[in-house]
Amino acid sequence: MLKQTFHCQRTRVYVLNGPNLNLLGTREPEIYGRATLKDIEKATAARAKRHGLKIVFRQSNHEGELVDWIHEALTKGCGVIINAGAYSHTSIALHDALKALDKPIIEVHLSNPKRREAFRHHSYVSEAAKGVIFGLGSTGYLLAVEAIAELVGAGTDLK
Ligand code: DQA
Repeated sequence: MLKQTFHCQRTRVYVLNGPNLNLLGTREPEIYGRATLKDIEKATAARAKRHGLKIVFRQSNHEGELVDWIHEALTKGCGVIINAGAYSHTSIALHDALKALDKPIIEVHLSNPKRREAFRHHSYVSEAAKGVIFGLGSTGYLLAVEAIAELVGAGTDLK
């Protein structure tokens, strides 16, 4: 399934979260679930640890800040997991920043945007991502860690 192996010098995976995801837990729980972003961070860090990976977990409501963090991942990260929230559907700037990144990128959405309003059906992030996981709630972040670990060969050739 995941054939290509990427080599990175660092074990750091950036997990970037876009606008309104700081409200998880109380924001439309029937769509996004009851887990808070802190809960997701803890679970994601624990899963990454199993693979000898460390996560840098961040959230911003500002597009430019997310762009800056993608640039940071260029030099300091070995992969990116991104839930860009509504910017997924609007941001060419995020698309371009991700395209500049020669590391595996996994896009995550808690909900399944394809089953929702038409304006959520297209994602600029998907076009830059290696893989996309959506509709599985917070489990999607854990599956994204598994995918990144396999793509970077964590636990095998990482020191
Ligand atoms: C989301 C889906 C987006 O359409 C929405 O704007 C979000 C959350 C998700 O995780 O399901 O903010 O990215």
